[in-house]
Amino acid sequence: MAMTDIGGAVLRGLDPETAHRLAILALKVAPLPPAPADDPVLETRLAGLTLSNPVGLAAGLDKNGEALHGLSRLGFGFVECGSVTPRPQPGNPRPRLFRLSEDRAVINRMGFNNEGLETFAARLARRPAGTVVGANLGANKDTEDKAADYVAGLRRLRGLADYVTVNVSSPNTPGLRDLQGRAALDDLLGRLAEAREDDPTPVFLKIAPDLTAAEIALIVEAALDHGIDALIVSNTTLDRPASLKSRHRDEAGGLSGAPLKARASAALAAAAEASQKRLPLIAVGGIDSGAEAYARIRAGASAVQIYSALVFEGPGLVGRIKRDLAARLRADGFSTVGQAVGTAR
Ligand code: FNR
Repeated sequence: MAMTDIGGAVLRGLDPETAHRLAILALKVAPLPPAPADDPVLETRLAGLTLSNPVGLAAGLDKNGEALHGLSRLGFGFVECGSVTPRPQPGNPRPRLFRLSEDRAVINRMGFNNEGLETFAARLARRPAGTVVGANLGANKDTEDKAADYVAGLRRLRGLADYVTVNVSSPNTPGLRDLQGRAALDDLLGRLAEAREDDPTPVFLKIAPDLTAAEIALIVEAALDHGIDALIVSNTTLDRPASLKSRHRDEAGGLSGAPLKARASAALAAAAEASQKRLPLIAVGGIDSGAEAYARIRAGASAVQIYSALVFEGPGLVGRIKRDLAARLRADGFSTVGQAVGTAR
C-alpha cells in the first residue's frame, strides 16, 4: 500500500471536514516529488491554454488557494482553487459535509466558507510556476448585487490566475443559481466583459446540472454573446436519485460523485448540442475512471475535472485516469485529445 493510500484510509475514518482539513495541511507541508512528465498524447488545448493533460482538479477542495504547491505535484493538468468571495465568510454551521460511502457520493452545504479575496490574491501571487491554475469566483451570502462580487473578484485577480471561473451554480448560497436566467446572466456577463477590458485571461462559466436542455441552450448563447471562453458542466445537484442508500441521503446541499454522473452527462450533452463546437466544454460530475473521462471527452468535453472520486480513491486516481485515457486514445487511433473531442456525438 502506498503512503498516500494509507493516509487515505486514515482520513476516511475521520469526520469528513476534519479529514478535509488534514488533507489540505498535508498537501501544504508534504515534500512531494514532482509528478512524472505526461504522455504527449494527453496534451490538450483549452481556450488558449496548453494543458499537459486534460484531467483537472475541480473547485472546492482548495477554497483558499492554500495548497497549490502540493496540488501541483499530484499530476493534474490544471488546478482550480476557490470559490472565493470578496469578503471572508464562515459558511454554514457544521456539520455541512457528508460522505455517502455506499453511494460513492458526497453531500455538501459548505456555503462558500473562505478567507476572502485579499488572502486568496496574496496566495495566488505565489502560485507554483508550470501548473495551470484557475481561480473560481463566488459571491458573498449577504451581497445584494451578486454580479458586483464577481466583477470585484475578476478585477482583484487580474494577472494572478491562468483562468477565472464564474461560479453561478453553487446550490448553497440563496439566489446564486438565479444568475443562470437569461436576463440576470446578460447583466452579469455584460458587466464582466466590461471589467475584462483588454485582459486576455480566459473566463469560464460554471453551471448547474439541474437545468433543462432549453435553459442550457440559452446559457450557451449568452456565453457566446459575451465572450465567455469555456463552460464548466457541472456543479453539484439538488436532485436525490432514488438509488441512494446512505443514511445521509436526505441532508440538504449539493450531491456530487457517482450518482451525479447521469445528470452531469445529460447537461454536457445538452451543452454540446447547443454549442456545436463554438464553445469549449469542461466536464465535471462523477468522473472516477479513465473510461468515464474518455466518454465525456467523446461527448464533447475538451477537458475534465474531478473532486469526489478523490475522496474515495485517493490521489493515485489521477495517474490511473491518465494512463487509461492515453491507452484508450491510442487504441481508437487518436494522436491527441483534441481529435477525440465530440466524436461520440
Ligand atoms: C464542491 N464544488 C464546488 N464548486 C465550485 O464551483 N465552488 C466551490 O466552492 C465548490 N465547493 C465544493 C465543496 C465540496 C465539499 C464538494 C464535494 C464540491 C463542486 C465541485 O467543484 C464539482 O463541480 C462537483 O463536486 C462535481 O464533481 P465530482 O465531485 O462529482 O467529481
